[in-house]
Amino acid sequence: MKNMEVVVEGNCYVSGRLERCCVGIDNGRISKIAKVLDGDKVYQYDGKLVLPGAIDAHVHFRDPGLTAKEDFGTGSLSAACGGVTCVFDMPNTKPPTTTLSALREKRRLAESKSLVDFGLFAGVRPGMDVPSLAKEAVGFKLYMASTTGELLVPSLDAVKDELAAIGPTGKVLAVHAENESMRKKDAEESLEDHMKNRSADCESSAIRKVRGAAKNCRLHICHLSSKASLPLVTNVPNMTVEVTPHHLLLDTASKIGTLGKVNPPLRRREDRQGLFQAVKDGVFDNIASDHAPHTVEEKEEDFDYAPTGMPGVETLLPLMLHHVRERHIDLGAAVRMMCERPAEIFGLNKGKIEPGYDADLVVVDMQAAGVIRGSALHSKCGWTAFEGMLGIFPKAVFLGGASVIESGNQTGDHRGRDVVGQPA
Ligand code: NCD
Ligand code: ZN
Ligand code: ZN
Ligand code: ZN
Repeated sequence: MKNMEVVVEGNCYVSGRLERCCVGIDNGRISKIAKVLDGDKVYQYDGKLVLPGAIDAHVHFRDPGLTAKEDFGTGSLSAACGGVTCVFDMPNTKPPTTTLSALREKRRLAESKSLVDFGLFAGVRPGMDVPSLAKEAVGFKLYMASTTGELLVPSLDAVKDELAAIGPTGKVLAVHAENESMRKKDAEESLEDHMKNRSADCESSAIRKVRGAAKNCRLHICHLSSKASLPLVTNVPNMTVEVTPHHLLLDTASKIGTLGKVNPPLRRREDRQGLFQAVKDGVFDNIASDHAPHTVEEKEEDFDYAPTGMPGVETLLPLMLHHVRERHIDLGAAVRMMCERPAEIFGLNKGKIEPGYDADLVVVDMQAAGVIRGSALHSKCGWTAFEGMLGIFPKAVFLGGASVIESGNQTGDHRGRDVVGQPA
């Protein structure tokens, strides 16, 4: 029998359970899974867990235009070090990704710098060319409230035709759901003040509005933040829902000042616990980081002026695996929300260890939790709101069968690809 090109052996998560086996890889894809396989290159991980690479469906890598905060090189290194092998980048860059030429320019940059696979979101704005963007974007993104960038669409009436055109393309419409007209603009000095300006009603109202306005679209509600919104997103046809680690693990009592200033806001402990329970109840389709780096200098501004958003692509999987280890979440649910579901929602050949799937793999030692330190992470911004928490970081990461991280360090200079592919 012919050798596989690459074999990864360990305690692999296959068909919903862990088993000691070998994953055989040819041409970047998983070709065979068996107890024993021979390969030209064999990676032996004994009892360590081999999981599908995580897919972070919500990152802001700030490239082009905002590269003092992050760029596709640093953002994707941060992703790889955290076991994320595919990211979907949001359109609030400079220029915003609302035209085919901006999308292609971003793809060119990402192809030259990215260590992981990627998809690019197109921003919704009046007059945009929906059919041509649909062919090359991973999905569309709608901002219903002001946040970082200039893509606010305050009235859904202004994009009526655009929303109607998105439905038939079959692409996902991802939504930042906060109702701009309900947002209060009182002076803010604390996380509590920021939360009060952006109430739970603000979120719930936006979810109701977009459901009414985009009836024919596959809706994806980003970063759900409040317990009150849960009934609006539970078992709704044609709607998927995302939650972030920060809304699950941080709240307004966290002593992190502007580092915790984010949209939608961190809320009170009851909300956070309600969201955590919803994770256990299977309400959420995916957990994404909403990796939104800003420089330390920007975050050192007075509370009112500090920008919103926090980095998270590198801590997404490690934080969640720590909670798996603590038995707060089961491994199957974690893999479903960080690997399988994002791949299914966006139609990728990823997220499972199964023949035919991309050979994106993460190797972890569940006994080896480490303390999260902003200074040790790889984002350009150099800080984290999860400072001091525990995380289980990957020992090794493979992208399309190529080793990209080994013993926690970058190996080789493999480049990721756009998952949507190039125009013919
Ligand atoms: C994000 C950013 O900085 O790009 N900020 C944030 O507070 N989450 C934008 C966004 O996702 O709303
Ligand atoms: Zn958002
Ligand atoms: Zn975001
Ligand atoms: Zn926990």
